[in-house]
Amino acid sequence: MKKMMIAGNWKMNLLRHQARELTQEIILKIGDVKEGVDVILAPPFTALDIVGGLIAGSRVMLAAQNVFWEDRGAFTGEISPAMLMDAGCKWVIVGHSERRGILGETDSIVRKKINASLDDGLNVIVCVGETLQEREVGKTIKIVQSQVESALVDLELEDLQRLVIAYEPVWAIGTGKNATPQEAEYVHTTIHEITGSIFSQDSERIRIIYGGSVNGDNIEELLHMDNIDGALIGGAGLDADSFVKIVKLAGE
Ligand code: PGA
Repeated sequence: MKKMMIAGNWKMNLLRHQARELTQEIILKIGDVKEGVDVILAPPFTALDIVGGLIAGSRVMLAAQNVFWEDRGAFTGEISPAMLMDAGCKWVIVGHSERRGILGETDSIVRKKINASLDDGLNVIVCVGETLQEREVGKTIKIVQSQVESALVDLELEDLQRLVIAYEPVWAIGTGKNATPQEAEYVHTTIHEITGSIFSQDSERIRIIYGGSVNGDNIEELLHMDNIDGALIGGAGLDADSFVKIVKLAGE
């Protein structure tokens, strides 16, 4: 069985003192979390140092929500993979639908970010998923396939150990509507077929997590599915009790 992953994406929320309080509460409540779950917190850049300091020595890992693909130079406002590593990050989220949709990130930008991050030693969570409109016209698999293929095109099989795919149907993010476990499982299974056709049977080892309105009440059913290896949590991750409940359920 693959190791479960629960990642909290805090998005553009929480001032530093709020990030400190939430992290302290999570660390306290998470206590004896089972070894079988990778727990990740992705605060905004401004709180990376505070959260990183508080989780040091615990099993919780730090992630950034975005990255640039160059190492250094005249790229005002951007942050490189090396800078994120220096700030204590082990992971970075790339290609979130809010960045694709609001900031205009294309598949080729997403690919550059993945490659630069992996090259510099970061682990990557790459997000894929269809919009409601795409779903309604039956294009879910087509969209997910092109995003996955584009994300993986330059990678070697061993890179897959440091890459997690997050399937996040855009219509389910922050809306309270989530895909049914069966709908999510169908797409996750298809993603495995896609990675299998790019690499080999071994790509079965790649973890695929689900995201979109996941909470303490609906996580259990999702995690019962064979190909759902965890979750990327937005809103519910801003509440320590809900987040810890999700982590504990993932460890059962
Ligand atoms: P949500 O966000 O859980 O608030 O729907 C998930 C995400 O965007 O990663």
